[in-house]
Amino acid sequence: FNTANTDYYRPVYHHTPLYGWMNDANGLVYKDGEYHLYFQYNPYGSKWGNMHWGHSVSKDLIHWDHLDPAIARDTLGHIFSGSTVIDKNNSAGYGKDAMIAFYTSASDEHGQIQCMAYSTDNGRTYTKYEKNPILTPFDGLKDFRDPKVFWYEPAQKWYMIVSADKNMRFYSSTDLKNWEYLSQFGEGYGVQPNQFECPDFIQLPVDGDKNKMKWVMIVNINPGCPFGGSATEYFVGDFDGKEFHCDTDKSVTKWLDFGKDHYATVCFSNLGERVVAVPWMSNWQYANVTPIRQYRGANALPRELSLYTKDGEIYMAANAVKETEGLRKGTAYVNDFVMTDEHLVSPLATGQEGACELEMDITPNKAQTVGFQLMNDKGEKTDIYLDLKAGRLVMDRTQSGLVAFGEKSEPHAKETDDHRKTESVNYVNDFALGTWAPLSLCEGKTYHLNVFVDKCSVEIFVDGGRIAMTNLVFPTIPYNALRFYTQGGEAEVKNLKVHQLGL
Ligand code: FRU
Repeated sequence: FNTANTDYYRPVYHHTPLYGWMNDANGLVYKDGEYHLYFQYNPYGSKWGNMHWGHSVSKDLIHWDHLDPAIARDTLGHIFSGSTVIDKNNSAGYGKDAMIAFYTSASDEHGQIQCMAYSTDNGRTYTKYEKNPILTPFDGLKDFRDPKVFWYEPAQKWYMIVSADKNMRFYSSTDLKNWEYLSQFGEGYGVQPNQFECPDFIQLPVDGDKNKMKWVMIVNINPGCPFGGSATEYFVGDFDGKEFHCDTDKSVTKWLDFGKDHYATVCFSNLGERVVAVPWMSNWQYANVTPIRQYRGANALPRELSLYTKDGEIYMAANAVKETEGLRKGTAYVNDFVMTDEHLVSPLATGQEGACELEMDITPNKAQTVGFQLMNDKGEKTDIYLDLKAGRLVMDRTQSGLVAFGEKSEPHAKETDDHRKTESVNYVNDFALGTWAPLSLCEGKTYHLNVFVDKCSVEIFVDGGRIAMTNLVFPTIPYNALRFYTQGGEAEVKNLKVHQLGL
């Protein structure tokens, strides 16, 4: 295949496959100085199908080398999402430090079953276990997938968490091949319009205090999320080696990202104390029809996860990893200003093709609304503002550029169970909208924003990731100005920096 880029909207600094379709990040693992990013991959075209595990590696989470697909579709079906561990004690018998991948084989004939493959060449090639599958649902569940395997120190055993329709099921094993059922959690918790997908289970200190560790279950849900389609929620609690006990009651929902293009987010294995997650930056409502041809699908920036307390509740922050500073190619400093009306920063000193990171402190003072429009010479704009009255951070993309890019003009497909096959279109209603997050998650008074702009995306991180908001936008020419504005009173913007970004 020709892999010289032919797509206008190919990101400058986000990971994409050179050719073909990509969805979820899979098998994220760190070994010998290399980050491995496997992903749901169709090598034959830019729509979902023929699922393989594609493969890229990086030394810094920012610069990625594209390698050959690592696990190919076979007679058991598609190779769906899953995880990879480093077998430090040679539990499976393929050698110390072998890389062991767990994935779901999916087909009409065999259903969704968990399989295993191992690599002894640093994740370049995998050999499938000859006795696959290693795990089938004991009750014939149709939705049973996306195994995440982790070492559970207190029991000196391997554990697996699998999404099982409206629950997540826990299993344990000593040899990574035979799995014993332990418990399930999920039904009735949080927002649950449909089956859960891509679970993860991680442990983090609360407010940085290592004597106060909590378990967090990350789950991805689709369809039916607040802004439509796909999104990621999480539950904080304790794990006793058998069952997960959620701290909050069933009605509480905590979102990991408040945009519309953040999905199937899972974390790296073998990173020590650091917890880094990688999202897929799209939404099943329109993922198959975005205005891209040669490839389709990108990852949002890798995020460092941490727990903080606000008003007696524990939340998870998701901040762009510090390695993103390596993307900065130069910085323009803008003088502090107080506005009673508006303030234009133009031209914006961005990097190649509009790629930049905006950093700033916004103090609303007496304003009821304060924000800025990222705009271009065609009048296309992404509007980002704090609505102090409603207590919301809003990103409005209704006029951001292309917002209706279906191939046919039909009412969009019903959100059916088989969301991956969604073909249809007229995405005006699904795409042209604003997303919002509660400002109550932040510290208040002054808001610190890091805003990452690429060819077709805007990611906002407020106060170190207390709010993360990831959205696709398709401006037909790059944004090159910032129009700040305030309503209802004076507001202040300080420490505004425009970092040009590039690889
Ligand atoms: C999530 C998902 C997973 C599944 C994969 C298939 O986006 O539906 O549950 O394993 O995509 O590509």
